[in-house]
Amino acid sequence: MDKLLLQGGARLSGEVAISGAKNAALPILCASLLSAEPLRLTNVPHLNDISTMLRLLGEMGVGVTLEADGLILDGSGLNNPVASYERVKTMRASILVLGPLLARGGEARVSLPGGCAIGARPVDQHIKGLQAMGADIKVEQGYVHATARRLKGARICTDMVTVTGTENLMMAACLAEGETIIENAAREPEVVDLANCLISMGARISGAGTAIIRIQGVAKLHGATHAIMPDRIETGTYLCAAAITGGDVRLLKTSAAYLDTVVDKLMDAGCDITVEREAIRLKAPRRLQAVSLRTAPYPAFPTDMQAQFMAINCVADGVATIRETIFENRFMHANELMRLGANIQIEGNNAIVRGVDRLEGATVMATDLRASASLVIAGLVAEGETLIDRIYHLDRGYERIEEKLARLGAQVRRVN
Ligand code: EPZ
Repeated sequence: MDKLLLQGGARLSGEVAISGAKNAALPILCASLLSAEPLRLTNVPHLNDISTMLRLLGEMGVGVTLEADGLILDGSGLNNPVASYERVKTMRASILVLGPLLARGGEARVSLPGGCAIGARPVDQHIKGLQAMGADIKVEQGYVHATARRLKGARICTDMVTVTGTENLMMAACLAEGETIIENAAREPEVVDLANCLISMGARISGAGTAIIRIQGVAKLHGATHAIMPDRIETGTYLCAAAITGGDVRLLKTSAAYLDTVVDKLMDAGCDITVEREAIRLKAPRRLQAVSLRTAPYPAFPTDMQAQFMAINCVADGVATIRETIFENRFMHANELMRLGANIQIEGNNAIVRGVDRLEGATVMATDLRASASLVIAGLVAEGETLIDRIYHLDRGYERIEEKLARLGAQVRRVN
C-alpha cells in the first residue's frame, strides 16, 4: 500500500497548474447517459474516482475514447442499467447514474452507496425527488430499483441542501415531461458547471447557482463539447499548503471566483493574495494568525476545506474554533494531527484548535480524502519525517499531489 513520506521545513514557492474539478467532472460524466450522441470533455482530472466512474459507465454500455486533451463519451450503446455494489462501494458518487438512467431508459438498479468515514450520507432526498417525478422506487437487498415509463416534471423542495441530490434531480428533469422546479437547490459552482454542460447538450435550465432551479423537459439531448471547470478545492488546498510554510506560490489554470470565503479566511490569517484572471498568488507571513470558521452550503465556507484549515490553525498564533455543520463525523483528521503534536479539543461538532510553536513528524493514517490533505499540509512543517499511510484516499481527489508539491519545493516522495 502506497505511503507518502514528507520531510518538513521547506518553504513552498513557484508555480503549479490546477486540474479540472473532480466534483464537477463526476456528475458531468454521468450526463453522457442522457444522450445517444457523443459528449466530448476536456480538462478532465486524472483521478482514481474519475477512472472508477468511467469503468462504471463502460459497464453500462457507454463508449469511452481517450483523447490527448480529454475524452469522448458515447451513450448510444447504453444497454445495462445496473450499478453493482462492487463498483458503488468504492465510490459513493456512483449514485449520480440513478437520475440519468431513469430519465433516458426508464429503469435503474443502483446499489445504495452505504456510509463512509465522514458520515451516514443517506440518499433519501434523491429517491424522494425522483418519486415526486413519478418514478416507482423500491429499496431492497441494498439496491435502489427504479422504473418510470416517462418522468413527469414536479415541484421538489429538498429537506436539506444536497449537492449530488440537486445534480441527480436536475439531470433526470432534463428529459422529463413538463417543468420541474427544484427548491432549496445546492448553489455550488459544480452544479452550475453541470447545468452549463447540460444546456450545451440542449437542456432547458434556468436558475442554476441559485436556490431555485427550473428545468423544462425536452424529448432528447444531443452531443456537445464541454471543458470542466477548475477544481476550487484543489486550489484551496495548495493555498493552505503555501500558507502554512510561509511560502509564495502562484496557482495557474484556476480562479478565485468561487473561493471568496476561503480567500477571505486566508487574508484574515495574514496572507497577501493577488487574484488574476486565470491564476491566484499567495504570499504568506512567517507565522499565520488563527482563523475560526463555520462550514455551510455554498456560498458559505466549504466543508471540503475544513480539514485543511484545521491543519494551518495547528501552528497559527492564537485559538481557532472550527464548526462543522454538514457532516456528522468530519473531524477524523484531528486525532492524526494530535499525533504530530497539535492541541485540538473536540466538543460535538466544534473543534477548538490552540496553535503550538511546532509540530513533530510521526507516522499518521489517512481516513478520508480531505483528512489526508490536512495531514500532508501539516507534514510540510512538522519537524523531521512524517509518513502518511493509506494515501489511496488522496489519489481519489488530488492529481499527482507529490509531483505538484515537489515542484513547489516540498521534500515529499511516494513510498510503498
Ligand atoms: C458532495 O457530496 C461532494 N461530493 C462532497 O465532496 C461535499 O463534501 C458535499 O457535497 C458537501 O458539499 C461530490 O460532489 C461528488 P450532500 P454529497 O448531499 O452530494 C445529507 C469531497 O471531498 N443528505 O450535499 O454526497 C448528507 O448526509 C466530497 O470531494 C441527506 O441526509 O453531499 C450531508 O449531511 C466529500 N440525504 C448533507 O445532506 C440525502 O439524500 C449534505 O450532503 C442527501 C444528503
